[in-house]
Order: sequence, then C-alpha cells, then structure tokens
Amino acid sequence: IGKEVIHFDTIGSTNDYAKEIAGDSIDGTIVVSEEQTKGRGRRGKEWHSIKGDGIWLSIILKPDIYPHKAPFITQIAGASIVKSLRNLGIDASIKWPNDIIVNNKKVSGILTELGAEIDQINYIVLGIGMNVKTMNFPEEINSIATSIFKEGYDVKRIDILKNILEEFEKLYLDYTERNDKSSCIKICKESSAILGKKIYIINGDKKRKVKCIDINEEGNLVIINEDNDIEELISGEVSIRGE
Ligand code: BTN
Repeated sequence: IGKEVIHFDTIGSTNDYAKEIAGDSIDGTIVVSEEQTKGRGRRGKEWHSIKGDGIWLSIILKPDIYPHKAPFITQIAGASIVKSLRNLGIDASIKWPNDIIVNNKKVSGILTELGAEIDQINYIVLGIGMNVKTMNFPEEINSIATSIFKEGYDVKRIDILKNILEEFEKLYLDYTERNDKSSCIKICKESSAILGKKIYIINGDKKRKVKCIDINEEGNLVIINEDNDIEELISGEVSIRGE
C-alpha cells in the first residue's frame, strides 16, 4: 500500500480521479488531496472537504477476489481507521460497518466503489474521508458531524494518515493473502459503537428497531429482530441509525 502516491492541492473527488486511473495503476496506489470541490459521501450525499481540514484519501486496490467479498474491504478500512485513532490516544469507535465515531458524532466515513465484471473484480476504490481540523460544519450536519480537533485532540494529519495506511496494510494482507478475517473482526468488536445496543436498520423505506448482539466470524452483524429471531446482516446491504 502506498508504493505509488498521487497528491493534489485541489481536485473534484479523489474517488473519481482514482476510478479514472484505476485501470493503469498498481495495487495500493494512493490518491490524496488537500481539498475536494466535489467530495462525495454515501447515498449521493455531498462530503465537505475544505482545504487542509482533513484527510481526503482514495486507495486503489486490485485484490484477486470476487465481488461478494468486497464489503469486507470496507470493514477492514473501518477497523484500520479506528485502530489508528486509538493508537494515537483518541477514543474512537465504529458504527458498523462504515462510520467512525468520536463522542457520539461522526469523524470519518468510507465510500467503497467497485469496478467489476461478471464475477471478478477489476478494482476497488476505497475512499476515506476524515475531519481532522474542521471547526465549523454546515447547519444540516452540525449535530451529527465532528472533527478530531473539535473533540479536543491535537493530532497531526500526517500521523493519522501513516497509521491508517500501516494498519490497513496488515489487515488487507491478512484477508487477501490468508483469507484471515480474525484481527479485523476483533478490532470491530472491541471498538464497536453499537454492540449490545438497540439500533434502527433502514433498508429502502423500511425502518426496523433491533438489538445488536454480535459481529460473527464472517464479519456479519448478528441482531435480534422485532420477532425475537436471530438474524445476520451483511455489510453493504443496510444502513444503521442509533436509537
Ligand atoms: C460517507 O460516510 O458518506 C463516506 C464519505 C467518504 C468521503 C471520502 S473523501 C475521499 C473520497 N473521495 C470522495 O469523493 N469521497 C471519499
């Protein structure tokens, strides 16, 4: 990871750029920018990416895996982000599978995009956004978004970035070379913001209230549903809200 690094002062979206060059890039190529003018979040939302305020990063991955295995790459990203923040003394947790939380607010999100053919993946663009120095958020997200600085931690962007890449590389190789998910799942469980709690699961326009009881050895979220049955959720299929 990071043998090839492409750095911009400003760009539309590092994910868009990464997708453009993915075909000709090597596995682990990194695209970072100081600013994004068209940063994208999940579900078509905008992602505010002010100059110098955060980490706006995309990693081009070319693992030899099938599309159904791709969601776990997102979980690996989440685990490596939370682990790196904890390494730096920041009390962060994961709202399975995509969001990283500090003091109940979101500091970091992940946008994974695939270039896939019938049953083989050509590439994965893993987009990571982290608010590091941001002090002012737009009105509509102010109550749910935060930054590392805003929560009282004075940590350099470069130290966070280095940590994320190191932690990511370990877990990525565990998974892609040894099919070993265990370290990632251990981190996801230890640092979970939702285990043992009641949450809302949103799927299309359906909303259900359930209780999270485990993240199993596949990395799926195990819940007790509204009928008191045990159910497994695969990441990438649902969206989760706190109670
Ligand atoms: C989310 O939580 O909605 C995902 C946010 C992902 C943002 C990052 S910033 C770098 C990369 N480029 C983008 O346009 N989006 C991702």
